[in-house]
Amino acid sequence: MAISISRKKSKPAKKVETKECFSRVTLLFQILYRIPAACFLLLLVFLWSSSTTIISGNIVHVCVSSRKLNNLYCLSAGTQPSLELPVPSINDNSTSTPSPSINAGVKELVDVVVQYQDEPDPIIRTTVGNDSDEEVAKALKIVEEFMQVHRSWKSNMSRAQAACDGRGIYVYDLPTKFNKDLVGQCGDMMPWENNFCRFFDNEALGEAIPELGKGWYHTNQYSLEPIFHSRVLKHRCRVYNENEAKLFYVPYYGGLDILRWHFKNVSNDVKDILTLELIKWLQSRKPWIQNSGKDHVFVLGKISWDFRRTDKSWGTSLLELDQMQNPMKLLIERQPWHVNDIGIPHPTYFHPRSDDDIIAWQLKIIQSQRKSRVCFAGGARPGDPENIRSILINQCSSSEDGNCRFLNCTSGGCSQPNSVIELFAESEFCLQPPGDSATRKSLFDSLVSGCIPVLFNPFTAYYQYAWHLPEDHGKYSVFIDKEEVRQMKVNVVEKLMQIPVRDRENMRRYIVYELLPGLVYGDPNSQLDKFQDAFSITMNNLLERVNRLD
Ligand SMILES: *[C@@H]1O[C@H](CO)[C@@H](O)[C@H](O)[C@H]1NC(C)=O
Ligand SMILES: *[C@@H]1O[C@H](CO)[C@@H](O)[C@H](O)[C@H]1NC(C)=O
Ligand SMILES: *[C@@H]1O[C@H](CO)[C@@H](O)[C@H](O)[C@H]1NC(C)=O
Ligand SMILES: *[C@@H]1O[C@H](CO)[C@@H](O)[C@H](O)[C@H]1NC(C)=O
Ligand SMILES: *[C@@H]1O[C@H](CO)[C@@H](O)[C@H](O)[C@H]1NC(C)=O
Repeated sequence: MAISISRKKSKPAKKVETKECFSRVTLLFQILYRIPAACFLLLLVFLWSSSTTIISGNIVHVCVSSRKLNNLYCLSAGTQPSLELPVPSINDNSTSTPSPSINAGVKELVDVVVQYQDEPDPIIRTTVGNDSDEEVAKALKIVEEFMQVHRSWKSNMSRAQAACDGRGIYVYDLPTKFNKDLVGQCGDMMPWENNFCRFFDNEALGEAIPELGKGWYHTNQYSLEPIFHSRVLKHRCRVYNENEAKLFYVPYYGGLDILRWHFKNVSNDVKDILTLELIKWLQSRKPWIQNSGKDHVFVLGKISWDFRRTDKSWGTSLLELDQMQNPMKLLIERQPWHVNDIGIPHPTYFHPRSDDDIIAWQLKIIQSQRKSRVCFAGGARPGDPENIRSILINQCSSSEDGNCRFLNCTSGGCSQPNSVIELFAESEFCLQPPGDSATRKSLFDSLVSGCIPVLFNPFTAYYQYAWHLPEDHGKYSVFIDKEEVRQMKVNVVEKLMQIPVRDRENMRRYIVYELLPGLVYGDPNSQLDKFQDAFSITMNNLLERVNRLD
């Protein structure tokens, strides 16, 4: 079967928000992740499943416009001279890592030919072997095995409470150009946002929202780097002598670094300046050389593809550099075929300071009157016929008796956290279809509001957050295959109406009492005794992981 993809160059943005683009998430994965180029093609076949005819001769415009808050992607993806098929890298084989034998098999079957017309309209032609089911299964198996590897790094909570002996954390004192100075450039990051800097008030938690309760702030989705950094500086196992350290934290704000270039016309060299300076700086440090970076960790507050530039211009090449393969990278969206990419929750608006803040919120939302069964807060993707959002919006809007409420983010309905959180706290199920990438901050907003998420793509959560969400996803979510939605085989609202009250309550209790505390990042001065928040869980597992490197 032959797949032919042509990419239309996006029109220059007159006004960023109105930029006309087209998206197809799976293709972006395929093209941007490169290895996954192979795997994803196969996945694509699998996910679009059913028929080879859907794909054959399909013409796809690959460009993406994110209407998600202030984000905009336009990916001139696929202009690489060749789409290579690198082997998924596994740098430590002390644990039972799977063998990445996929590559050989895929290479035989997949013949990738990239042809160029004159820029700016390159055409990618890809041919996939015809017995791909097995290969698809292999690709998915690798993702699942990597998730198991991550789960095997989970620390035993009781041991995690142990003393700091042999668990020292060293935080590099990087020159401020790698972190603080980037925050200082906030005024010049988002061209259409007058006051982006307000998001960095309150140690990057943003402005307080007293109406929602204690610990609520208007936090930006890209603020994880400074938030995590503040916490790690105050970790009780922090050491100031690198010889006493087991884990090395590199507080480079790589996401903010790239955010300041996303919407400017600068060369790739400019975008990579700080990245390369950082590598050079690290290479002069003894601990980095000592273990080839394996005991080093980065927290990056944007999605993995923003750091895997394989196209002409989007993002930096940070995570594609050889030197960056050994360290652990914590990301709000991981690249599924890189075992050292580890998914951690997107930051929500809730940053409790104490156990009591958490308990008060749990009580509030478990008692909340859930007036509607289903809700969806999002925007359509009119330029992307494959995206199921329009179908969901239709099903939602036409539901009887107001069983489903729709909040239109395209018309600005979601810019205030209160409106979103109130909607979620008054609904039983929150639809979470993929947007421009597989993961959504909104997934975490819904969980924190006690609203059961309805997922349509396993990459939205199940293949991401091994440390913070349980393997048994039926405990906290409902899965509806997006293919069934696309083919209109299912009415999502009707299907959710059939879920009995007992099941809903069990899921909600599990979400609110078991998961919620571990999905939020506490206030930088938080003192939690009863609970472990997303930060503590992450740090405990990292320490567990580096301890096993010996
Ligand atoms: C994996 O472990 C084996 C034996 O422990 C070692 O010989 C080999 O070099 C390791 N491979 C990698 C890629 O680290
Ligand atoms: C599978 O592909 C091979 C060559 O790639 C071709 O000869 C064969 O006819 C194809 N089989 C089917 C069932 O399409
Ligand atoms: C984890 O903790 C439990 C309960 O304290 C204990 O029974 C178990 O042996 C521990 N497991 C490991 C691997 O340390
Ligand atoms: C971006 O800059 C380059 C080089 O200065 C220039 O040739 C190009 O026209 C610019 N593109 C836009 C969209 O402004
Ligand atoms: C959402 O808002 C946008 C912009 O105001 C509008 O064009 C669109 O029709 C709205 N969508 C729905 C389903 O109401």
